[in-house]
Amino acid sequence: MRPADLADVMRIERQSFTMPWQETTFRALMRRPSAALLTAVSSVRDPGGEYDGGEVVGFAVLWFAADEAELGDLAVDPDRRGRGIGTRLLEGSIELARNRGAHTLYLEVRESNAVARALYLKRGFQVVGRRPGYYSEPREDACVMRLDLQNDAR
Ligand SMILES: CC(C)(COP(=O)(O)OP(=O)(O)OC[C@H]1O[C@@H](n2cnc3c(N)ncnc32)[C@H](O)[C@@H]1OP(=O)(O)O)[C@@H](O)C(=O)NCCC(=O)NCCS
Repeated sequence: MRPADLADVMRIERQSFTMPWQETTFRALMRRPSAALLTAVSSVRDPGGEYDGGEVVGFAVLWFAADEAELGDLAVDPDRRGRGIGTRLLEGSIELARNRGAHTLYLEVRESNAVARALYLKRGFQVVGRRPGYYSEPREDACVMRLDLQNDAR
């Protein structure tokens, strides 16, 4: 993710969550060496790897502490869901966490978020806990999920 992506990122963030992160949060994380921010982009025009004008259609945010990684945010443009973009962002996040030396990848998800929970379960995450009243608007428990990266066959 680059600062130039933030307009698209903030639009998707606001369309995806009732309590969206502020732009300053993304900017602060971009400066943090212990964080990683991935984007899925609609088109890549420069074969050198940089993209020119491609639209951001989804993103993922991770951070790292010791041998643990946390998937802190994952969202796809509402108009582009159901096409595998979320799955690819999750796969990219897992690969990145493993490459950074993490042994486990954690995340929190709303109890009612059946689509996201199914996506994580399908990829091998296990429910390891619950944080009562973790979310507001509406108030709801978080389901804590974990992927063991050392015993992940995929
Ligand atoms: C969760 C999210 C990132 C998934 O992104 P996506 O690009 O739609 O994901 P995919 O296309 O890879 O689909 C993942 C699975 O969800 C299913 N799915 C997608 N949209 C769905 C819908 N509206 N209803 C039911 N299932 C749906 C797909 O069928 C797919 O399952 P399958 O692989 O068994 O077919 C996206 O729904 C999103 O941004 N949601 C709002 C933000 C959010 O909840 N983020 C997670 C916070 S923990």
